[in-house]
Amino acid sequence: MALTAPGMDHVAVRKKAGRLANLVQDIERDPMPEATVGIGHTRWATNGVPNDTNAHPHTSRDGKVAIIHNGIIENASQLRLDLQTEGYRFVSETDTEVAAKLLGKISDKIIEETGKPDLFKAIRRLARMLEGAFTILATDVRQPDIVVGARHDSPLVVGLGDGENFLGSDVAAFVAYTKRAMEIDQDQAVMVSADKVVVSDFMGNIVEHPKTYTVDWDASAAEKGGWDSFMDKEIHEDPAAVQRTLLGRLDENGNINLDEVRIDEHDFKAIDKIIVIACGTAAYAGMVAKYAIEHWVRIPVEVELAHEFRYRDPILTPRTLVVAISQSGETMDTLMALRHAREQGSKVLAICNTQGASIPRESDAVLYTHAGPEVAVASTKAFVAQITAAYVLGLYLAQVKGAMYRDEIAQTLESLKDMPRKIQWVLDTQTKTVQEAAEQMVDAKSFLFLGRHVGYPVAMEGALKLKEIAYTFTEGFAAGELKHGPIALVDEGEPVVFIVPPARGRNVLHAKVISGIEEVKARGAYIIAVAEENDPDVERYADVVFWRPACPTLMSPLVDVVPLQLFAMDMAKLKNYDVDKPRNLAKSVTVE
Ligand code: F6R
Repeated sequence: MALTAPGMDHVAVRKKAGRLANLVQDIERDPMPEATVGIGHTRWATNGVPNDTNAHPHTSRDGKVAIIHNGIIENASQLRLDLQTEGYRFVSETDTEVAAKLLGKISDKIIEETGKPDLFKAIRRLARMLEGAFTILATDVRQPDIVVGARHDSPLVVGLGDGENFLGSDVAAFVAYTKRAMEIDQDQAVMVSADKVVVSDFMGNIVEHPKTYTVDWDASAAEKGGWDSFMDKEIHEDPAAVQRTLLGRLDENGNINLDEVRIDEHDFKAIDKIIVIACGTAAYAGMVAKYAIEHWVRIPVEVELAHEFRYRDPILTPRTLVVAISQSGETMDTLMALRHAREQGSKVLAICNTQGASIPRESDAVLYTHAGPEVAVASTKAFVAQITAAYVLGLYLAQVKGAMYRDEIAQTLESLKDMPRKIQWVLDTQTKTVQEAAEQMVDAKSFLFLGRHVGYPVAMEGALKLKEIAYTFTEGFAAGELKHGPIALVDEGEPVVFIVPPARGRNVLHAKVISGIEEVKARGAYIIAVAEENDPDVERYADVVFWRPACPTLMSPLVDVVPLQLFAMDMAKLKNYDVDKPRNLAKSVTVE
């Protein structure tokens, strides 16, 4: 953190490696001065190990300027060499310190040229010299009433308060103080004071009317509200996330509505292929949607990890709809993949939880998930909301393409609308069983998660949750793969989690999954099943069952993931890990 106030000679800087709590404790022990402006950043180490020295802010040679930086400056090595040749010395291994020293040098030059400091001009000059991705914020003791910022391929948004203004990577940073926000576009710089915001491009041309909007999140939604972790609170918001994402989707004529659509109906009608691009949990939501959309709309849906998509030569045509799914709307891999798709003439539709984020802004159409702010690093309620939104998209396409009858669409929407109640049933009735299972399994070294059809991505998501917050080695597989390799891992007592599809309607996959259970059971595995209430086959073989209420197969992921989210959380809590902030992970991955 760096603070500036009138009369200071140096920017007051305090930084600590590790948790934010370390910094808070340090400041409580030894308070920092009162200030008019401040900047702070939690760093996710890109170059240079995480320690106090490499932590942000970094300062200019004379300590009058401090900066924080998100991103990676690709020409930092060359700039560092140039500065070293001029006698500059560096204390850290970071690219950010290079930018700080350079900004100090540029600021001094401006004072020399004009006789007065101009940090806004200085940051624009700096931005023009940097290559790579960056959002930089800076403060200067000679201008103690402003903070300036610049962005290129990294997010930045302004919060417009009353007699105070904010800058953050996303609106969640300031929603507790103000819901009014202003967009800062690619390659723009900004200067904020308590009562003024000025935006320009990197050449200094002023942007006359930057776009402002009101965030529809409830400020209290970003607080724990009595829960002992955000993750616990957010899992319990799964039903509301689905419900709110469905709200207002049908107009008075029974037609499905999207949010912001800059694609006309004619183009939607012509779509003959969908490619979902996303990362992590969002990609698993996309995999679930593939099963539903292909079934409803009868067009192929491919799901691709955004970072893989971007660096290959995907076959895209103007009739391909690329669907970018992202909770934060700022995942750099997904943003770059989206640009890659648009450059090749494809339309992009974003499914996003964060209003005004880069991904929805750069897309041709947007369908917002209304899950509310997701604070815990591990994604939970966003996953169910993403599936819901992708299903709405599927039904919308079925509507415009005439792939389903109107009453079929209405019926499917009714099933979707019933899911919050079913998720609530799981939360109300299965929490204790899940907790007991976690207590029993807490020392297990590894888990296998297996599912078929829509149960396959749910298995992958269950495995991801457990590895990322309980640090347990897990693998998620398609259950049909068992015999093709994974069964070799099964030994006496090995926990194997099966997502069991409904048996109703002579579902052939049910029998297949049950025979998979039998096979691993015969080898001594410990079986945890997620299955439909009263499934006698599951009762016979499973050691523990997390029950789901009866629902159509395509709807089952919305309930099946819930006990797996709870299980991961309980395991992590039993191991005394911070479930909201798992090690090495960041909520928004804004670097490649
Ligand atoms: C897992 C998790 C990550 C994110 C991924 C994409 O719990 O949170 O795998 O799902 O980083 O993030 P968004 O959805 O913000 O693009």
